[in-house]
Amino acid sequence: MKILLLGKGGQVGWELQRSLSLLGEVVALDFDSPPPWTADFSQPDSLVETVRGVAPNVIVNAAAHTAVDKAESEPELARAINAGAPNVLAREAKRLDAWLVHYSTDYVFDGSGTAPWREDDPTGPLSVYGHTKLEGEELIRESGCRHFIFRTSWVYAARGGNFAKTMLRLAKERDRLAVIDDQVGAPTGADLLADMTALALVQARRRSDLSGTYHAVAAGETSWHGYARHVIEFARKAGQPIKVAADAVERVPTSAFPTPARRPHNSRLRTEKLQSTFGVTLPRWETGVERMLTEVLGSGGIE
Ligand SMILES: NC(=O)c1ccc[n+]([C@@H]2O[C@H](COP(=O)([O-])OP(=O)(O)OC[C@H]3O[C@@H](n4cnc5c(N)ncnc54)[C@H](OP(=O)(O)O)[C@@H]3O)[C@@H](O)[C@H]2O)c1
Repeated sequence: MKILLLGKGGQVGWELQRSLSLLGEVVALDFDSPPPWTADFSQPDSLVETVRGVAPNVIVNAAAHTAVDKAESEPELARAINAGAPNVLAREAKRLDAWLVHYSTDYVFDGSGTAPWREDDPTGPLSVYGHTKLEGEELIRESGCRHFIFRTSWVYAARGGNFAKTMLRLAKERDRLAVIDDQVGAPTGADLLADMTALALVQARRRSDLSGTYHAVAAGETSWHGYARHVIEFARKAGQPIKVAADAVERVPTSAFPTPARRPHNSRLRTEKLQSTFGVTLPRWETGVERMLTEVLGSGGIE
């Protein structure tokens, strides 16, 4: 199996370099990869050239415009990266009879209600990011290529910055913290998504009927406030010099931190389809977060 991995340096892309290596030859690129193969998603012609030159059996697209607030002021660039480029990849996948793996988001939903969203529920994005990610999904489905679209949420990785690391830093510096409590979802590790992707691709070798859209998030749910509390208490138990008291992490509504992009309140995603189709059990979000924290704290990653 020859795999073209795009966006290799992102949270998910980095973990995919590890998990996909078991499946065959992986050509892993970023938007500033040196010639002969370049993969700048704002340059559709060079993307076509790269896909045709590499001629993979599988294209895995981990690249995206993920700066949710910035996307509000640069909608054309966000659309080119989140919808235009996936469209090119889907058409090239169809032409090559290759699989396309793509990642999407809970932000395709409007966040109303409290029930976990199913794959076929009506969408209603609130932001440019959400709109462009949804358009990317739709173009992939329309292309007729065999695909996996994994919708996920609140992605973190040990490498690079993330919400948990920010909370830990602030908890060491401040007496009080205010964290949003009216957005609910599931923190999901980039490593879990990468492993899930490899597992799905192994099954796809024999089953082209598995093509479709799947919700892929860790089990359980929390708010940003619950997530922050969990991280801080874990670090306190691990002997970290936490300054903020447990009862000084205040719950606030989304309106306390105005941002250019609107975010859904209900980001719960129902994962039964993924679990029953691929025969997997998704671990609870705390398991992955604690593992990431153990790695980060063990390496002295947060000072
Ligand atoms: N992060 C989340 O909370 C979250 C939630 C739901 C869904 N998702 C989806 O999950 C997928 C992976 O997300 P992630 O968290 O791994 O994102 P990430 O860490 O931001 O990685 C995105 C990658 O895309 C690259 N990229 C940006 N502009 C590009 C361009 N013009 N051409 C080529 N590559 C470009 C980035 O490169 P640079 O870093 O050099 O800019 C980066 O390597 C995305 O599809 C995202 O929409 C993420």
